[in-house]
Amino acid sequence: MKVLILGVNGFIGHSLATRILADTDWEVAGMDLESDRVRGLLENPRMRFLEGDIAIHREWIEYHVKRSDVVLPLVAIATPATYVTNPLGVFKLDFEENLRIIRYATAYNTRVVFPSTSEVYGLCPDRAFNEFTSNLVMGPIDKQRWIYACAKQLLDRIIWASGEQEGLRFTLFRPFNWIGPGLDDIDSAKEGSSRVVTQFLGHLLRREPLQLVAGGHQRRSFTYIDDGIEALMQILRNENGVADRQIFNIGHPGNDCSIRELAEHMRGIVAEQPGYEDVRHASLTGDVSEAEYYGEGYQDMPCRVPDVSNARTRLGWEPQVDLDTALRKTIAHYVGREAVACPTG
Ligand code: UGA
Repeated sequence: MKVLILGVNGFIGHSLATRILADTDWEVAGMDLESDRVRGLLENPRMRFLEGDIAIHREWIEYHVKRSDVVLPLVAIATPATYVTNPLGVFKLDFEENLRIIRYATAYNTRVVFPSTSEVYGLCPDRAFNEFTSNLVMGPIDKQRWIYACAKQLLDRIIWASGEQEGLRFTLFRPFNWIGPGLDDIDSAKEGSSRVVTQFLGHLLRREPLQLVAGGHQRRSFTYIDDGIEALMQILRNENGVADRQIFNIGHPGNDCSIRELAEHMRGIVAEQPGYEDVRHASLTGDVSEAEYYGEGYQDMPCRVPDVSNARTRLGWEPQVDLDTALRKTIAHYVGREAVACPTG
C-alpha cells in the first residue's frame, strides 16, 4: 500500500510513519515544513520525503495523491491560542489548503483518512460524545476559538457529501487530546504556545508556576499516542471495508480528568525524577481567567469524554494506556532531553 502523509513531521504524522515503516511493507510519501522528527526515517528506501509547504508544492501533492492508495491530510494549526490570535491563518491552512487535497482525492479516487477533532462536539451537553447521535454545539462568532472546530466540521461535512455524491472513499477520525513524545516543543516559553501537557511540562522543568485557566475545573480525556496509532493502523488496513464512510472517536474515556488533577499528577511525576525533587513545591495558580490567558476570543468546553463504541465494534479497538502510564512515558521523553541541557536547574 502507498500511504501519503501530509504533515509527516508532526506529532501524529511522524508517529504513524514510524509505525508503518516498522511493522508493514507499505510505502510512505510525506511532506512537511520541517524534518527534525522524521530524520531517522529518511534513509528508509520505502520513505519518500519533501521538505515543503502544502500551500506552495501543489503539483507534488497532486502527483502523490494520484499515485497513492490513501492520503492523510494532517497539516493543521492545532493550538487553541492560535485560534484566537490568528483565526484567518487557521481557516486558510486548516480549511482551504485541506479542501484542495480532498478535491484531488475525489478526482483521483484516492481514499482519505481525515483528522477531524474532538473539538467539533464543542459545548455538547452529552456525558459522552457519540459520532452519530451527539449534537455539535459551538459558541458565538466573536468567540474565535470555534473557528478551528467550525473549519474541521465543515470539512467533515464536505468529505461526507463527497462520499455520497461523488464516491469519495473516506474515514474520519477524532483524536481526543492525544499526548506522547513529540507532542509540542516544550522549550518555547510563551504562554499558550503548546497544548496543556507540554505547556505544563515546560513550566515544571523551568521551575515556573503552572497557570490553571479558570481554576482548572474543565476536564479532558487524555489518550496515549500508541493507542491512537493502533486505531489508525486498523483504519488504514480497513479489512472488509470496516472503516469506509465511518467516523471514529479515538480517545480514552477512562483517562478523563480535570486540568487541576492533571497539573497535580504531572507535578508529582516530575518531582520523582532525579534532579527535579524541588518541583513538588511548584505552585499552581488558579486565578487566571480565560480572557487573561488566551484573549477575549476564547471560550472553553467544560468536559470532553469520547464514546468509543464505534471504534470498539468496527475496529476491535480498545484504548490500553492509562493516564499515569501515558504521562510517565510522555514526561520521560522530554525529561531525558531537558536533562542534557539543564541537569539540575
Ligand atoms: C485541543 C486542541 O484544540 C487540539 O490540539 C485538538 O484538536 C484537541 O484539543 C484534542 O486534542 O482533542 P484543548 O484540549 O482545549 O484543545 O487544548 P489544550 O491547549 O491542551 O488545553 C486543555 C485545557 O487546559 C484547556 O481548558 C485550557 O484552558 C487549559 N490550560 C492550558 C490551562 O489551564 N493552563 C495552561 O497553561 C494551558
